Amino acid sequence: MMLRNCHNYHDLRKLAKSRLPGPIFNYIDGGADDEVTMRRNSEAFQTCDLIPNVLTGVKDIDLSVEVMGQKLDLPVYLSPTALQRLFHHQGERATAAAAEKFGTMFGVSSLGTVSMEEIAQQYDTPQVYQFYFHKDRGLNNAMMQRAKESNVNVMMLTVDSITGGNRERDLRTGFSIPFRLNLSGLWQFATRPMWGINYLTHEKFSLPQLDAHIDMGSGASSIGDYFTNMLDPSMNWKDVEEMVKFWDGEFCLKGVMSVEDAKRAVDIGCTGIVISNHGGRQLDGSRSSFDHLAEIVDAVGDQIDVVFDSGVQRGTHVLKALAIGAKAVGLGRYYLFALAAAGQAGVERAMTLLVAEIERDMRLMGCSKISDLNREHVRFR
Ligand code: FNR
Ligand code: LAC
Repeated sequence: MMLRNCHNYHDLRKLAKSRLPGPIFNYIDGGADDEVTMRRNSEAFQTCDLIPNVLTGVKDIDLSVEVMGQKLDLPVYLSPTALQRLFHHQGERATAAAAEKFGTMFGVSSLGTVSMEEIAQQYDTPQVYQFYFHKDRGLNNAMMQRAKESNVNVMMLTVDSITGGNRERDLRTGFSIPFRLNLSGLWQFATRPMWGINYLTHEKFSLPQLDAHIDMGSGASSIGDYFTNMLDPSMNWKDVEEMVKFWDGEFCLKGVMSVEDAKRAVDIGCTGIVISNHGGRQLDGSRSSFDHLAEIVDAVGDQIDVVFDSGVQRGTHVLKALAIGAKAVGLGRYYLFALAAAGQAGVERAMTLLVAEIERDMRLMGCSKISDLNREHVRFR
């Protein structure tokens, strides 16, 4: 399969699967436990149907939104994700370049493989920094300081990963950083030699957000171990309130699911929350983001920007979340498979396809701008 023959998420996923060693594909593709939440995330969109209006004059479509103080040309953004140079040697550089080209936001993960400074300096796109709260308070302070000095626009603290999710696919393949694979995992690397050549002939793997503080090279660590051993399970609302004060800018919590927590986020001065279950990678059996979105929007939608992610594969998924009241929609695996399939060209292809879908669907819905979408446009079955 070639990139130009990819017409949707499923095609991009298939191409990524053919290019990636199995352990890496499964790290991206997999979720926690029985992957029930992961599956439900996308299925939930089918419980709700769109109701279009006609004859509204839809010659020009404006897809721009404003979220957490950032003006975006699109209602979708590229959610921070870990280890991107493992998926394609261009890694975060490809993702950031595509975000810049499409006028949307992106930012590196604490587990990013390119430094936040480089991404912020080289790419003219609203910068997010995804923060994992480490046991090492010195590391936390240094990270916040670096983010300030890099002019990061939005601080995004992930709060659903206080310990590692049970990713059984990774246990089977032995996926870890750095790699320490079991026999079947090694065999899967041997069957994707092009990936191996690219990996070995480009800049050495590193985690520039963490390298100065944590020696990830001295012992293989699974992603679950990293969460469990490095992150601070005692993190609480008081800690975050102090961070919000220190940051003194746009600050959002990624992975809020309860109304109670959404209200607390407002109380401590956050400017956004991302309704997310981490793509079903953490607590399996937790409610899907889409099933839960309306409840949160109804409770706090007029006090804080409610952003949404988990399970988005289609333009119509984006429209449904926006119609319920999300201010913007985050993409995870959708662009990661495209990155793995073909680097920057892949992410650009994915974005071109999604923008075309959203634009077409907006016209078919009779909406010319994102704020035209509302609850009248959706009915649950
Ligand atoms: C993630 N996600 C994630 N989130 C985060 O806060 N920090 C991170 O480092 C990562 N890393 C990461 C790696 C991979 C491979 C995946 C698939 C996801 C979660 C991500 O930002 C987002 O919340 C989900 O991916 C959304 O779900 P979908 O769109 O993948 O279904
Ligand atoms: C993950 C991380 C690192 O979901 O957030 O794998």
